[in-house]
Amino acid sequence: AYTAKIGPSILSSDLSQLGRECERMMECGADYLHLDVMDGHFVPNITFGHPMVECLRRCIGPDPFFDMHMMVSRPEQWVKPMSAAGANQYTFHLEATTNPGNLIKEIRESGMKVGLAIKPGTTVEELAPWAGQIDMALVMTVEPGFGGQKFMEDMMPKVSWLRSQFPSLDIEVDGGVGPDSIHRCAEAGANMIVSGSAVVSSDDPRSVIALLKNVVIE
Ligand code: DX5
Ligand code: ZN
Repeated sequence: AYTAKIGPSILSSDLSQLGRECERMMECGADYLHLDVMDGHFVPNITFGHPMVECLRRCIGPDPFFDMHMMVSRPEQWVKPMSAAGANQYTFHLEATTNPGNLIKEIRESGMKVGLAIKPGTTVEELAPWAGQIDMALVMTVEPGFGGQKFMEDMMPKVSWLRSQFPSLDIEVDGGVGPDSIHRCAEAGANMIVSGSAVVSSDDPRSVIALLKNVVIE
């Protein structure tokens, strides 16, 4: 049995206080930070880029693990800048590139871990050929673009299948995950749990993080 790691998404937090919000999440027991980068092209929303990540790294110190969720159309473009800014993992979308193999290699060469994300409409069979070369698969449980959407339970077979085929792969779920949906994610075999609004807008984020983390997977 193992416990899941929890990575709050600060997308739904007070963006004028991002550094403080990241610190607050770590103080409340977060295992890592999931940072949502949107370019207004791959998804119909815009957030921030590597200059902000560099400031966050300086603000919070060297330890917290930054999982960059790159919802951008040209993920190749930001590998080096993100690495230089202090990102630890670069999670790109399979739908956004024609050459995943090369991108995986570039991310590794820049010293970051590799995450590969799929949108709800992308099958897990399309991700499978790359699963042996990545550190983490991200199965989106909402259409990427916005926080606060409803968890798509019908994505769970993707997680179960990946878990059965790749027992030691880190599998992350992202979108609508909170106390009501965590059990479904854990049963399916997800071990990296992103939670945005459920954690950030709670008046007791510490308890929500503890609850999510203590879901034990047999
Ligand atoms: C959605 C983002 C998610 C989102 C999660 O496009 O990738 O990380 O912020 O927020 P909640 O948990 O509110 O769905
Ligand atoms: Zn995300």
